[in-house]
Amino acid sequence: MSLQLEEPDTKEILAASDAATRALSSTPVETDFVESVYENIAWVYDVVFGPTLHAGRLESIGRLGIRSGDRVLEVGVGTGINAALYPRDCNVTGIDLSGSMLEKANRRIATRRLTNVRLLQMDAESLTFPDDSFDIVYAPYTISVVSDPVRVVHEMRRVCRPGGRFVFLNHFRSPNKLISRAERLISPLTVHAGFKADLDLPAFLAQAGLDPVSIEKVNIPRIWSLVTCAKEE
Ligand SMILES: C[S@@+](CC[C@H](N)C(=O)[O-])C[C@H]1O[C@@H](n2cnc3c(N)ncnc32)[C@H](O)[C@@H]1O
Repeated sequence: MSLQLEEPDTKEILAASDAATRALSSTPVETDFVESVYENIAWVYDVVFGPTLHAGRLESIGRLGIRSGDRVLEVGVGTGINAALYPRDCNVTGIDLSGSMLEKANRRIATRRLTNVRLLQMDAESLTFPDDSFDIVYAPYTISVVSDPVRVVHEMRRVCRPGGRFVFLNHFRSPNKLISRAERLISPLTVHAGFKADLDLPAFLAQAGLDPVSIEKVNIPRIWSLVTCAKEE
């Protein structure tokens, strides 16, 4: 698969001065808090975050380059809104912290008869899978939700097989100073709706030790990033 490095350039991003040490977000959250938020919003998640983020879901799954028989892990599967978008000839495992989100996901895969999808309740910060278990490990709209994004990346990388890919679809803090300031300001509010609005991409890449093979803009408007990383053979 040939992957192009699109805007923003990773090397420029990593050259940012204090990326290795600065806070990833102005609003740290604990896992218990995140879980309680998603327990509360599960009933309305598909209405609020369904259509608005769907173009990005469709585009990103198309770009994962899933092959027949691939073992795919979706981290933060939520209500299973992506489940029917995966090719039927791959094996999908979806994990999530929230029982209420998973209840909806279980109903969805039963209704749609998605026999290639299994769901498990699990914390992405300590996955119970052995090393090298999956061909593709994918976190759509999840990395700005979890309490410790760097720990989640390490777990995603660990369970990805050598030569496989681990991929993030997310909104990150804008490089535009004015917008970035606004995102910082609203982040203490948006965490109550389930996400940090100001996750810092350069700091995230530096602190997770990531050197992505591509960063592509997706969604409408194109302010979400699909960050694809390869695990060395
Ligand atoms: C914004 S939703 C994304 C759902 C789905 N992937 C989508 O495309 O809409 C984020 C999900 O991550 C889950 N989550 C948050 N922290 C988690 C953790 N530590 N481990 C597993 N799942 C977590 C939440 O419960 C929620 O269902």
